[in-house]
Amino acid sequence: MNILHIVGARPNFMKVAPVLLALNRRENVAQTLIHTGQHYDVNMSDVFFQQLGIPAPDINLAVGSGTHAKQTAEIMIRLEPIILERRPDIVLVYGDVNSTVATALVCAKAGVPIGHVEAGLRSFDRSMPEEINRLVTDQLADMLFTPSVDAEENLRKEGIPAEKIFSVGNVMIDSLVRLLPLATNISQDGLPPRYALVTLHRPANVDDSDTLKKILEALLEVNRDLSVVFPAHPRTRKRIADFGLNPEQLCLLDPFPYIEFLALQSRATVVITDSGGIQEETTFLGVPCLTLRENTERPITVTLGTNVLVGRDPRKLRSELLRVLSGKQKKGSIPPQWDGRSGERIADILVRQRG
Ligand code: UD1
Repeated sequence: MNILHIVGARPNFMKVAPVLLALNRRENVAQTLIHTGQHYDVNMSDVFFQQLGIPAPDINLAVGSGTHAKQTAEIMIRLEPIILERRPDIVLVYGDVNSTVATALVCAKAGVPIGHVEAGLRSFDRSMPEEINRLVTDQLADMLFTPSVDAEENLRKEGIPAEKIFSVGNVMIDSLVRLLPLATNISQDGLPPRYALVTLHRPANVDDSDTLKKILEALLEVNRDLSVVFPAHPRTRKRIADFGLNPEQLCLLDPFPYIEFLALQSRATVVITDSGGIQEETTFLGVPCLTLRENTERPITVTLGTNVLVGRDPRKLRSELLRVLSGKQKKGSIPPQWDGRSGERIADILVRQRG
């Protein structure tokens, strides 16, 4: 069986790793890894490959940044001849980034089967580019690997036949389970004993100057109660500079490699974020998570996990923060099948159905 994996952006790398490593252990499986180049900075890409123990990509399409149309189109143009020439038995795509949907469009039209890892998540908010990517990719996919029960329900409601849906659990948690022991060895030097770990990069939060200004003001307020540790995404850093904002007391750090970031998360008093994956990782780690969004495509982190949606309301952020600081935070549990074995399940299903 010839399998081609396509990744492009930082959150894809921890999802492909467990699937690739599990398939390496199966017989008669040939794998090719293609990086679209959507993320290209060393600290947004290369370092993740090293730490996750995945081989360097066989091909890098080097598309770089651009508007949604430009980035998506460029990936399609560069990928199409490779798909037509190689005609893999299946192409696996991950998550909900532009690289995911661009690949699904190319493969569907070339008649090449698509497997979507992390299928079925829905925020029901079509102003999010990722929601569009998720909806389109799931309509085109032939095999849909879901991380949670809500995802399966969403797909069934959208009319996806049950035989295409495979409940496998959360592949991102596989990488966490495997590498958390290394994170515990990372030195804590230079870190305050208690801190709020902050990440912020959603267009809805950072692309509008007023919204970004208000969020930074709210974080300055948090910083009075609890030191803020803020590794800034390149998009966010760029917007802060573009809008002439100067959150002096907030010390912006560069993005961290995977293992160092896991260490930061696992020791945080609270995590404040607008990321998708971090809502899941904090739920697994049992660390309180305050999400700066009105909705989430990962509702299980709210119903079962430690996640609380605070939206963009600074009062809600403050009241939830005070609840954490007084030790009255929400207690969570780990969702079913978030057990470090999702990559193995996907490998078994692929070999059984397509091998
Ligand atoms: C993308 C994904 C988002 C995911 C996020 C994780 C889409 C639509 N969005 O958003 O779902 O949560 O990745 O990080 O696919 N930049 C750099 N260096 C890089 C990459 C980006 O400087 O290596 C800067 C560029 O200015 C670029 C901007 O960040 O224009 C945004 O990058 P882009 O890939 O368009 O989207 P993300 O915000 O990273």
